[in-house]
Amino acid sequence: MTTPFNLKWGILATGRISHIFTKDILMPPSTRQVTDVSHTFVAVASSSSIDKAHQFIKDFEADLKVAQYQTTGAVRPYGSYADLLADKDVEVVYVGSPHSDHYKTCLAALRAGKHILCEKAFTLNAAQTEHLCALAKEKKLFLMEAQWTRFFPSILDLQTQLNSPQMPFGRIYRTFADFSIQAPASAAHRLYDPKQGGGALLDLGVYPILWCFILFYRNPENTLTPPSVTASVVNSPLTGVDEQDTVVLKWDKLGFQSTCCTSLVGRTEEWALILYGEKGNVYIPHPLSRPSSYTVHMHGEAHVKHQIHIPGQGMHWEADAVARSISKGELENPIMPHQESIEIMKVMDKVRKIGNVSYGELEDLEK
Ligand SMILES: NC(=O)c1ccc[n+]([C@@H]2O[C@H](COP(=O)([O-])OP(=O)(O)OC[C@H]3O[C@@H](n4cnc5c(N)ncnc54)[C@H](OP(=O)(O)O)[C@@H]3O)[C@@H](O)[C@H]2O)c1
Repeated sequence: MTTPFNLKWGILATGRISHIFTKDILMPPSTRQVTDVSHTFVAVASSSSIDKAHQFIKDFEADLKVAQYQTTGAVRPYGSYADLLADKDVEVVYVGSPHSDHYKTCLAALRAGKHILCEKAFTLNAAQTEHLCALAKEKKLFLMEAQWTRFFPSILDLQTQLNSPQMPFGRIYRTFADFSIQAPASAAHRLYDPKQGGGALLDLGVYPILWCFILFYRNPENTLTPPSVTASVVNSPLTGVDEQDTVVLKWDKLGFQSTCCTSLVGRTEEWALILYGEKGNVYIPHPLSRPSSYTVHMHGEAHVKHQIHIPGQGMHWEADAVARSISKGELENPIMPHQESIEIMKVMDKVRKIGNVSYGELEDLEK
């Protein structure tokens, strides 16, 4: 058996999603039948206090003991992102800060020579994403937005079926997708705070849109043509960010439209995505970030439910894809290429323009 390619990770930010991601990369790859790549957690940084970095490592004491494939010594804590970026042992950084920080932190990471996996939404606007992608290419570094759902094996299978010439569900006539939650109604909460890139669209609305991109932007008949976009936005009485968005994506070459909804009030209950096809429908349950099954209903037949098996939270699959790309010297991953992140950001730019949602100077490009 050949030795797996091992990737050394530095984690930037000690919040909720950094915890979930780190737990997943510490799962032995054998638990998901992966043998070609593995991961080592070498360092973590907090922008606010080194104590938070120490605590973060403590939170993983038990996982680090189980992660037998770990070959390096103790995980190093840092009290600033800059200090971690200066650590020569770190090959790739995971950026788990709020969206308002992604552009600045990714620029610093690229300038420090690190490969990057950055949480969604990638940046605040398409211009910032384009700048990061151009800089990564110039520096010959790998860069990817963490649209983790794309990497679930069952979802890749569904995507292949839908885009196959056999068209098992016939032509798709229309789709409806929704990712809505009941967020804490607080102006200081990340989801409502404009200084943290708040609003439903960038945080949750990105999922209904990315699903449409997986299924239709990539349909061979669409030939990677971006959809036309219309939208309606309700602004929050608390802070003015978008509290509810309805986005209609029109796929001219495919001859149908997708309705994408998101809201910080009134959570999605059951179906998060419905594909209406000529021969049958497909139903995907909430949440669109991590659905646990999908149900196919061919017209006139019984419903057939397909379970989606997810060991851990499921973020390890995107980490495995990053490791494979870096092992091959790829600067972007074919499942989440730069241009698709840019096109999705362009859709969200258009919606925010319609809704008059701006993040002011946080949206500027660095000179
Ligand atoms: N993939 C997913 O399913 C998923 C789910 C949830 C969130 N996310 C994304 O992950 C990012 C973080 O979300 P989260 O839920 O983990 O947020 P969170 O719990 O609030 O954590 C964010 C962390 O970012 C750091 N940070 C850096 N600059 C900051 C600033 N100006 N204000 C506040 N915190 C700052 C802080 O850690 P330090 O003080 O240690 O630096 C903070 O703990 C967002 O972009 C979000 O969209 C993705």
